[in-house]
Amino acid sequence: MTVPHATEASLALRLTPDRPVYEPRRDYLAFSPPIIGEEEIAEVVDTLRTSWITTGPKTKRFEAEFAARVNAPGALALNSCTAGLHTALSVLGVSAGDEVITTPITFAASVNVIEHVGARPVLVDVEHDTLNMDPIAVAAAITPRTRAILPVHFSGHPVELDSINDIARANNLAVVEDAAHALPASYRGRPIGSGENPVAFSFYATKNLTTAEGGMLTGSPEFLERAAITSLHGMSRDAWKRYGKGGSWFYEILTPGFKYNMTDIQASIGLRQLDRLAYFQRRRREVVAAYTDAFANHPSFETPTERRHVEHAWHLYVLRLRLETLRISRAQFIDELTARNIGTSVHFIPIHLHPYYRDRYGYAPNDFPVAKSAYDRMLSLPLHPGLSDGDVADVIGAVFDVANRFAR
Ligand SMILES: Cc1ncc(COP(=O)(O)O)c(C=O)c1O
Repeated sequence: MTVPHATEASLALRLTPDRPVYEPRRDYLAFSPPIIGEEEIAEVVDTLRTSWITTGPKTKRFEAEFAARVNAPGALALNSCTAGLHTALSVLGVSAGDEVITTPITFAASVNVIEHVGARPVLVDVEHDTLNMDPIAVAAAITPRTRAILPVHFSGHPVELDSINDIARANNLAVVEDAAHALPASYRGRPIGSGENPVAFSFYATKNLTTAEGGMLTGSPEFLERAAITSLHGMSRDAWKRYGKGGSWFYEILTPGFKYNMTDIQASIGLRQLDRLAYFQRRRREVVAAYTDAFANHPSFETPTERRHVEHAWHLYVLRLRLETLRISRAQFIDELTARNIGTSVHFIPIHLHPYYRDRYGYAPNDFPVAKSAYDRMLSLPLHPGLSDGDVADVIGAVFDVANRFAR
C-alpha cells in the first residue's frame, strides 16, 4: 500500500489558522480502521490451506520475529493483551489480600485483571505532560500489602521506567508493563519489551499492529515457560507438541490455567503486519508532525509531548482543549467534529469514574486531579497509516473550524 507523503507546503496552504480554506468532507473518516493488505490476506489463505490453523508453526514464527523486533528475551503469543496481563499476574502469584498500583488513565483491562486475581487495584495520579503514572505518587502509595506495579505506556509514550523499576527493586515488588499502545517504543534506547519485566502488548483491531484480536507477552524464558503453561489450561504440553509427528498423547495439568492461546490464522496476519511496522510508524510520525505543526500555536489546544529520552509509539494523538478559550465542552467539540464527518474517540474515561470502581473503592472524581482535568479536556484524533494527506488536512481543517467558530 502506498500513501502519499504529507508535504508541508500542501498542508500549510490549506490549514493556517487565520486562513482556513475549510470544506467539510463528504464521507465519514473512521477513527482507526485496520490496515490490511494483500500480504496479510495471502498469508491467512496459505494457513487455511494447511492442515494446522490453531497454535502452531506460524505462531512460533511470529513469537520469534516479534521477540527479535523488540529485542525481547522471549515472547509468548496469546489471544489478547488482557490475557497477557492476567497470565503475568497469575504466574507472579498476585492474589487476594495483595495490592497492585496502577493508573486511572487506562482501559478497563489493566485494572480488571487485578480484580480477576482477587487483588486490590490502587490507583495513583498521572504526570501532567505524558498522562503516565507519576513515580512520586507510586512511591507514596506503597503499603505492606503492595505486591506489584502495573504501569501503562499511555498512548505509546513510555512511562519513567528507571524510576518505576528502582521503586520496585527497593520494595521487592514485581513490575508488569501494559504495553498495549507501545509497539514499537523505547525508553533511554531500550525497546519496550526488551527487559526482564513481563510486558503485555495488544494486537486488537485498532492497534499499531493488529491480528484482529491478539497479544504478546514478553519476559525472561523462565517466566514465559510458566506463563505458557498457565495460559493453556495448565497443561504440561501444548497441542502442537502432542499432535505433531513424534509427539506424545500424554500431558499433565500442573495448575488450573486459562485458554489464552493465539491461532495460526491470527499469527499469519501478525507476521505480515510486522514486515510493515516500520512503514506504519513512519507514516504515523508524519501525521503527528502535521497535527502538532498545525495545533501547537493555537490558543485553544495543548498538543501531546514526546520526552527527549523516549521513542513514542504514537498509538494515539491525544489533543487537550483549553476549555477557557471555548464556549463548548469537550463532548460538544466531539459532536461538532462528528457533524463534520471526522471520527474521534476519548482515551480514557478514568477508571475511578466507572460505577464498579467508584462504588467499590469510594472514589470521588477529584481524587486524581491531573487525570480528571485531562479527561475533561481530551479527545483522540484519527491516527493511522492509512490516512492520506487529504484526510489529515480534513481533520486539521475541521478542528480549526470548530475551535474558531466556538471561540470565546
Ligand atoms: C491500555 C490498554 N491496556 C489493555 C488493553 C487490552 O488489550 P486487548 O484488547 O488486546 O486485551 C487495551 C485495549 O484497548 C488498552 O488500551
